Amino acid sequence: MQRTLNKYCFFIFASIVIFVFLRCSGSASCDSCSIKELTQEEKQELQAALGRNFFFDKRFSKDNSISCSSCHVPEKAFTDGKSLSLGVGERVGFRNAPTLLNVRDASTFMFDAEITSLEQQAIVPIQDHAEMDMRMGDLVEKLNKDVHYVDAAFRLYGQPLDAYVITRALAAFEQTLISVDSRFDQFYASQDSSVLNANELAGWEVFKKLDCISCHQLPHFTDYKAHTTQMSFYENDLGRFRVSGQSKDVGAFRTPSLRNIELTAPYKHDGSEFDLTRLVSLHRFGNKDGTIAIPKVDYERLQNETELIVSFLGSLTDTSYLTAFP
Ligand code: HEC
Ligand code: HEC
Repeated sequence: MQRTLNKYCFFIFASIVIFVFLRCSGSASCDSCSIKELTQEEKQELQAALGRNFFFDKRFSKDNSISCSSCHVPEKAFTDGKSLSLGVGERVGFRNAPTLLNVRDASTFMFDAEITSLEQQAIVPIQDHAEMDMRMGDLVEKLNKDVHYVDAAFRLYGQPLDAYVITRALAAFEQTLISVDSRFDQFYASQDSSVLNANELAGWEVFKKLDCISCHQLPHFTDYKAHTTQMSFYENDLGRFRVSGQSKDVGAFRTPSLRNIELTAPYKHDGSEFDLTRLVSLHRFGNKDGTIAIPKVDYERLQNETELIVSFLGSLTDTSYLTAFP
């Protein structure tokens, strides 16, 4: 009897030890051990992994119908293929969803070029009526019902799951979205012209000659600044003027990156252009002031040059990032 009792006590004791051990190694609430166990690098990786879960989680929207990935689809270079994005209840937004690839290197976000951090940006779609329509307070409450998320917040950020953790983790994930290995990049790094075909090479020369590169600057073919262009039609959207209130910004939109342009149609801030060739031929008349200055042109040359530019733009596609999204 005594032996059985001893055995029984030992079993309970061992269970407690294992339980405490598991909590310490697997859970966040034991600050003294688990937080220190992770190296900085491991922590960053896990933060990005948490952000990735958030990114694909439909609970981020009011009626659990859409996630960030509904409008930023991996296969479409994190755009959505629609002119204007649809939010909860099919509410139509007022702009075209831009790519999220290489946002790590951006100095401004959105077509207004006003927001300057990914953490700050993340709050916008969550709360926007025409996007996820979720009050941050309600989202925090909803996500706190998920023990895995609560645990991860403690473990990776040493604090409860709140707006800080949500925006930091989403940003950490977005910073991992990189696409810089297009055929153009291979050519540019090696200066080996055999990487591109003759039309692409000629198109790159035309691109430089026409000064497209003054706004679509390397490395990501954008200067992250807002400009008016010849293509600006802005009845419904006054562009950067909305945030700056300065008349020079009426109809000014941030230069989009041209990387993966083959995957990101339709184009422009309102997604009103589906045809890349037509877009380029219209756009090239625009000068920096956006004033109308159609020069006398040789139309045959013009068409030829436009086609060369479009070939060149095709060399900016790099889908290697997709291996992380099977
Ligand atoms: C309903 C569609 C929709 C949803 C859902 C959505 N986005 Fe967006 N996203 C957009 C649109 C449209 C823009 C451009 C808005 C603008 O410029 O005013 C944008 C812009 C962005 C940008 C700026 C990129 C740049 O280079 O300027 C980032 C970053 C971003 N979204 C991340 C997210 C994250 C993170 C989520 C989830 C929390 C999310 N989006 C959810 C449609 C959406
Ligand atoms: C003054 C700065 C500027 C110059 C110069 C310029 N662009 Fe643009 N480009 C922009 C802006 C701004 C937009 C976005 C306009 C909008 O959304 O309404 C844009 C849009 C584009 C787009 C569509 C991208 C998308 O995803 O919507 C392409 C393609 C493009 N430009 C190519 C070119 C080419 C080719 C040239 C040279 C012939 C050129 N650009 C010269 C500023 C410029």
